[in-house]
This record gives sequence, C-alpha cells and structure tokens, in this order.
Amino acid sequence: MLCAPPQTLRPSRPLLPPPRCSGSTQPSPSSAGNIRRQVLQPEGRAKLDPRSDRDFYAFPRLVKHVDDGFLATLTDLYRERVRPESDVLDLMSSWVSHLPPEMLFRRVVGHGLNAQELAKNPRLDYFFVSDLNREQRLELESASFDAVLCTVSVQYLQSPEKVFAEIHRVLKPGGVCIVSFSNRMFYEKAIGAWREGSAYSRVQLVTQYFQCVEGFTQPEVVRRLPPSDAGGKSGSSPLEALMRLFGQANSDPFYALISYRNFKPM
Ligand SMILES: C[S@@+](CC[C@H](N)C(=O)[O-])C[C@H]1O[C@@H](n2cnc3c(N)ncnc32)[C@H](O)[C@@H]1O
Repeated sequence: MLCAPPQTLRPSRPLLPPPRCSGSTQPSPSSAGNIRRQVLQPEGRAKLDPRSDRDFYAFPRLVKHVDDGFLATLTDLYRERVRPESDVLDLMSSWVSHLPPEMLFRRVVGHGLNAQELAKNPRLDYFFVSDLNREQRLELESASFDAVLCTVSVQYLQSPEKVFAEIHRVLKPGGVCIVSFSNRMFYEKAIGAWREGSAYSRVQLVTQYFQCVEGFTQPEVVRRLPPSDAGGKSGSSPLEALMRLFGQANSDPFYALISYRNFKPM
C-alpha cells in the first residue's frame, strides 16, 4: 500500500496496479529483466539474527547511518546522475533524504520497513512498507521510474537477484540505479556473503547483482576512500595528525555502483 507522508501537502496520486513481474524466472517476450544466474549460495544469504526484519526495524531509528563526508559525496553523485523533474524511487529508505535539496523531482517514492521513519522524510511524495526478504515484488508499475536509489542497505538483501530484477522492471529504459554503501552495517542483520567479505569483494558482489539480471549496463564503480584506506601515507603530516585529533581525518569510505537499464543516456 502506498501512503502519503502526513506532513506533505501534495495530493496523493494513485499508481496503476503493477503488471506481472518479469523479474522472476518467468519468460518474457524479450529476455531483458530475466535472472541469468543465482549469485549467492544459501550460506551467503544467511543472517546471524533470525528475527524477522520487520521486528528488527519496528522502532524508528532517527539516526544517520554514515558520516557527513559520505553523505556529501552521495548528494554530489545524485546531483550528477539523477535528472531534475524525474521520477525517483528511494528503495530501503528512512527519515532522511540524500537528494540535493535544491533539485525538484516529479515524484519521489520511498520504500522501507518503518512507516514512522518514512513519514518523517520530507522528500517523499508517497511511501510504502514491504519486507524485501519476504516478498521481492514491488507494487509499482513497470518502466515508471527514472532513478532507483539504494543507500547503505544492500547488505541486508537475502534475495538480491530478484530485487535487482524488480529494480530493472520498474526502471524506464535509460533509467539509472545507484547503490551506495560503506563499511558500516547492522552486523547481525547483514547477509553472510557481506559480513565475511572485504571492501573489494563487496564491490564485486554488487557488480554481480547487476550482471545477473539481463539488461543492465556494466556497472560503473565510484570510490572515495579516506587516505588510510586508499593506500596513501596517512598520518605522516602534521596536518593529518591534527585532523585525526579532531576526528576529521578518517571518514566513512564511500562506494557506489551505477548501472542503467539497457543504455546510458547521453
Ligand atoms: C542502514 S538503514 C539505511 C536507511 C536509508 N537508506 C538511509 O540512507 O538512511 C537500512 C534500511 O534498510 C531497510 N531494510 C532493511 N531490511 C529490509 C528488508 N528486509 N526489506 C525492506 N527494507 C529493509 C530499513 O528500512 C532500513 O531503513
């Protein structure tokens, strides 16, 4: 069910009922959107905490999950890659938006697990709650979004192949998907393949999530690493020592994978 956040004054617009999901194993007239192969083994999908995700996210967490440096990099990336006046889906969203505040969009739809968090998000015109580890099908029309965003959350998906097939389905041709992450996580809720991985293997994992669905372009990888992670000689200069003292030197490492449905528009 789609809800409009109570504080937004925009009239709610009904969405058309979704057509059949082509992201499943069902054949479609073209093979685009079909899942080519499974990326994860059963143990790679497992979480340490067996509680349902809905229970885990039952109480609103009105916190920021990554630091300001990460969020500024993400907002800049959205400024570059998300078109103004477009339709945006913020998948696995919460109470804050990372979209550039000065940009206007035709529609921003939020999805997550906690309605109270989503209701506080000032950028959302609508939101809906659904557990993607129980049901991967999105109650959204095919080819209806120009951008699908997923911020610091991909590590919680236990059926990423089906979710990425759904992302492909709801994107318009030429639409962009941006998946960003850092090295933070709710450890007990992250899947085994993520918990046990390295920064390199996590980038490879998300690359494979795109590649396992027919019709995504080869993902581009954007990395912004603090000096200590980038292999530089961190800590060697007096300025760096001073920055470390004030907690400025090490920011959360930033990774984003960007892929388009069918083609990257000029
Ligand atoms: C670390 S928070 C990130 C929230 C938001 N994207 C942000 O940037 O602040 C992880 C989010 O993933 C969502 N999430 C986790 N497990 C989920 C699931 N099984 N189905 C749907 N959403 C889920 C929760 O709603 C939660 O808000």
